[in-house]
Amino acid sequence: MPKNRLRLVGALTAALVAVTAPSAQGLAEHRPHKPQTLADLAQRHGRYFGSATDNPELVDEPYKKILGKEFDQITPGNGMKWYATEPEQGVFDFSQGDEIVDLARAHHQKVRGHTLVWHSQLPDWLTSREWTAPELRKVLKKHIQTEVRHYRGKVFAWDVVNEAFNEDGTYRETVFYNTLGPGYIADALRWAHEADPRVKLYLNDYNIESVGPKSDAYYKLAKQLRAQGVPLHGIGLQAHLALQYGYPTTLEDNLRRFDRLGLDTALTEVDIRMYVPADEEKLATQAQWYADLTKACLAVRRCVGITIWDYTDKYSWIPAFFDGEGAALPWDEELRPKPAYYAIRKALS
Ligand code: G3I
Repeated sequence: MPKNRLRLVGALTAALVAVTAPSAQGLAEHRPHKPQTLADLAQRHGRYFGSATDNPELVDEPYKKILGKEFDQITPGNGMKWYATEPEQGVFDFSQGDEIVDLARAHHQKVRGHTLVWHSQLPDWLTSREWTAPELRKVLKKHIQTEVRHYRGKVFAWDVVNEAFNEDGTYRETVFYNTLGPGYIADALRWAHEADPRVKLYLNDYNIESVGPKSDAYYKLAKQLRAQGVPLHGIGLQAHLALQYGYPTTLEDNLRRFDRLGLDTALTEVDIRMYVPADEEKLATQAQWYADLTKACLAVRRCVGITIWDYTDKYSWIPAFFDGEGAALPWDEELRPKPAYYAIRKALS
């Protein structure tokens, strides 16, 4: 080949390489094993990253696709609650929870069981009459043990008792507390443990992210229960946050004190609501808070994972419960990732 043509070919090749060759950053982006999802990124830290979901949403295929891909843990938002699982006394229906367990299995996701004992979403047969202590003990034990046995080996953790305390750290006066006294919590944990000795047993609540009277109540109770040998393995911090109330800056310290008791912790129902419409500034603050929560969990050894309370604003519980508020999740109503999604990724990277 004449020299001139050779030079021309050489120059053309160099130009082509310059145009098509990936930069160092580009190369990293194209590595075959690049973590693609929140779950992949969390797993590098030995954590899970999950989402709640609910049965009626499971007909939405685009929704299901992201749910199955991005997360390695699922919590049923309603399907394992008492009203759904024992709609008539002694008649159990696990169809909703089973649907979610099957979906999780198909995507190699683990499931948090939610929840065995809660004052809300109870069946009418339970709330519409008076119970003596022995009667209610029997009913409670049967409910817990039947459900825990049913999901043995299928859920890795249970929110055994949900929302047991008031804001000031006194016991919430539920039908269980009023009839059975505070000992119902230890009993519930023991009965659950009997039914599945391997599953991790949690107490779960909201507004316990910061150090304060309500989280102090959990700390005190957890310490007592551990000292008495009651099978308690973790504390679930729901983390339903709202921009107008400020970020819980003592979260990391709080997680750490439970860690020192030998307990796991998890952020179990995370969402960060705001007054709508959302704007760039609110979304940026929200993104920062999601990142800060994620980093707090990563910083504490026994904080085992994070679950958001569904992943898209399309199915968030917030607008129905808080007038004028919403936009609480990392994906918007059209299933498009928001700044919060990218902030979580960065915090996990
Ligand atoms: O099942 C009925 C349905 O038949 C009816 O057509 C429909 C009309 O409103 O209501 C349906 O019930 C709703 C139920 O969710 C199931 O979708 C209730 O109205 C609604 O109040 C209920 O909300 C749930 C809420 O708990 C109840 O307190 C939310 O979906 C659920 O995300 C939320 O989850 C709780 C956690 O369990 C505990 N921590 C707080 C968190 C947020 O409240």
